[in-house]
Amino acid sequence: MENGFAEALRRYREAKGLSRADVASLVGLDASYIHRLEKSNRRPSRKAVLAMADALDLNDETVSTWLFAAGYGPLPISTEVNAAGDSPTIETAAHPAHRGASKTTAARQRAKLEAIGFEHGALNRLAQAVDVSSIKQRKRISAIVSAMLHTITDSLETRISRAVIPAAGRSYGGAMSSQTKQRLLIRAIAEAVGCGIHEIVLVLAPQMDNFFFTPLKEAFEITGVGLVNLRFCTQASPSGLGDAILTAEPLVGKQPFAVLLPDDVINSNTARSTTTQQLRFMIDAFQKVPGSNLVAVTPVSKRKMAKYGVAEIGEGPAIDGSLTIRKLIEKPDQTHSIISSPNALGIVGRYLLQPEVFDVLRNLRKQRPASLELTAALEVIREKDGGTRAFPLRGARRDVGEMFEQATEALG
Ligand code: G1P
Repeated sequence: MENGFAEALRRYREAKGLSRADVASLVGLDASYIHRLEKSNRRPSRKAVLAMADALDLNDETVSTWLFAAGYGPLPISTEVNAAGDSPTIETAAHPAHRGASKTTAARQRAKLEAIGFEHGALNRLAQAVDVSSIKQRKRISAIVSAMLHTITDSLETRISRAVIPAAGRSYGGAMSSQTKQRLLIRAIAEAVGCGIHEIVLVLAPQMDNFFFTPLKEAFEITGVGLVNLRFCTQASPSGLGDAILTAEPLVGKQPFAVLLPDDVINSNTARSTTTQQLRFMIDAFQKVPGSNLVAVTPVSKRKMAKYGVAEIGEGPAIDGSLTIRKLIEKPDQTHSIISSPNALGIVGRYLLQPEVFDVLRNLRKQRPASLELTAALEVIREKDGGTRAFPLRGARRDVGEMFEQATEALG
């Protein structure tokens, strides 16, 4: 997969004539870490990106682009003083000596804060408070402000905070033992948490809450994984993935969210964390195409395509790993032309969705389909404004649900 961040790191480093070991020692990290970043095997923290940007002496604009490529928000909007000197100046009552001195660092910083919505009066009051306070009080103020800023930056960086994990469908009603189901579910929860998603909504079949949800929630509490907020809703009958998603709407609200189908496991021989890594890359790509929905895809043999949702990839430009789609169909007939298309890929159970999908699903439901499919809703959105894109996953996908079905059939 293309990774703009990794490519840029190598380019900036080489332009400065630095080795990986040089960069590593400048930022106090391990050279092997820099190597892994350049190979796209690791996603750096925002702090690491900023430290490397500093070491490589990048300008603000380049740093912002680089942060973006690594999946983070850019630096705060800069309100530069232009040649005519007509940038917003901030006069502070606390610093009369600074009146008119619009180019002081403090004034510039405050102008930047104002540009992103901080209130002028509040900033002045804060400046006044700092001015008349003792060193001890200043330390307190500084601790409060930096804690507040941390909370704000955290919420800026984790733009997907909720995941829906449907566990009431086809494979979950089948032959799998509840132990296996729980394991798959825990794996999916861990995958979401590994991507900074802490609000998990499980869609369960009726009665599953007693024997399934309660012990799971208890286990999370006992093991101290307190960061995970686990909730559930009940899907009355397995009426399609779209129906499951719509059931979760009240717990998702109006924000982008992830959907993870726990019986789709993405494996690779290279690292245990691959599934999480793949979802992280997918989230990065999602953030590059604002307003779009993203559906994971992978090659599937023509023989098996009728069992899955199928996406025919279009010819539009790729954006950070996501591709345009020409057509989406849920479980096409074996004779359907999409199956013979060389650009047809199977849909894997990882989706990143915009909350607008709920309205589309509600409209589709009015047509009373036997099964309300997410693929159908995503196709409506794609037809409308191209708002559904595909994200090819790396690694072997294992459909555990299908494996269980086959085993059950074989055993009669
Ligand atoms: C669901 C989706 C389908 C997707 C599949 C992946 O089908 O509707 O588009 O390809 O998951 O596993 P289900 O497995 O619920 O029949």
